[in-house]
Amino acid sequence: MAATLPATTEDVRRGLSDVGYLPGESTALVAFLATRLGKPVLVEGPAGVGKTELAKALSRYLDRTLVRLQCYEGLDEAKALYEWNYRKQLLRIQAEGGEAGWSEVQEDIFGEEFLLARPLMTAISSPEPVVLLIDEIDKTDQEFEAMLLEVLSDFQITIPELGRVEARTQPVVLLTSNNTRELTEALKRRCLYLWLDYPSLEHELQIVRLHTPELDEKVSRKLVELVQLVRELDLKKPPSIAESIDWARALLLLGAEDIDEQTFRDTMSVIVKHRTDLDVVADRVGVKIGAPFGG
Ligand SMILES: Nc1ncnc2c1ncn2[C@@H]1O[C@H](COP(=O)(O)OP(=O)(O)OP(=O)(O)O)[C@@H](O)[C@H]1O
Ligand SMILES: [Mg+2]
Repeated sequence: MAATLPATTEDVRRGLSDVGYLPGESTALVAFLATRLGKPVLVEGPAGVGKTELAKALSRYLDRTLVRLQCYEGLDEAKALYEWNYRKQLLRIQAEGGEAGWSEVQEDIFGEEFLLARPLMTAISSPEPVVLLIDEIDKTDQEFEAMLLEVLSDFQITIPELGRVEARTQPVVLLTSNNTRELTEALKRRCLYLWLDYPSLEHELQIVRLHTPELDEKVSRKLVELVQLVRELDLKKPPSIAESIDWARALLLLGAEDIDEQTFRDTMSVIVKHRTDLDVVADRVGVKIGAPFGG
């Protein structure tokens, strides 16, 4: 049985923390509202700040199945909603061996049995409420967005041959976007909005500590301070939380007891991944490390 819905924002904060996701204040608030108001949430922000993970964590916390629709350019209804299983339909037609009339065959082969449910359909028709993640919606085109609007506002899908499929339960819906294109106002209007940014120093330290508790606390702190410093530079691709965690894991593996200049230079490609960025970082941060830090 699915867990009951949270009663307060604090419930959500604690619940997400318990399943390994440390939400910021607005994250906990918006997640709480989403579960209670039944509105989809549009989560925007730079790469690697925990947009996708938020949906996964919510599904763990609410004890609901996660249904994921990964968006990409050219994604169409057949891959997002449903598709007829042509092969099976054909087999049925052949099996009937031309004895049945067309109307009988038609009635036969457009039944639920011949339907292949894709993520949106799966989420809508699930008897247990699910968490629906529509990941990287900005990668699709506007026509797809329009189709999605219908699903998100009515929670129903119309199949011409079959009729209407209405949601039996209300899914918690999260849409994520990396901002590669501006989403339509119509979509935004239907959603709650959450802007996920890079976390504060203390928040990021907590996240890193959660993922690599074995790494010495002083090293973790210095790591986060450095990452935050690197983020302030004008880079092509600033390091995200994902990179901080990777770096912490790498340092742990290497048994680093401190991040001195040499260690930094040896491992900085874990957090900086452009040729030109590497030069900037080596220049601007590499040299600072010798000096006393943080105070
Ligand atoms: N608040 C958090 N608490 C715990 N872990 C976090 C948090 N935020 C991010 N992470 C971790 O950071 C990593 C990156 O998160 P995620 O993949 O969700 O980023 P994203 O925003 O979806 O990135 P992209 O835009 O590239 O898809 C994950 O390993 C996740 O566990
Ligand atoms: Mg993601």
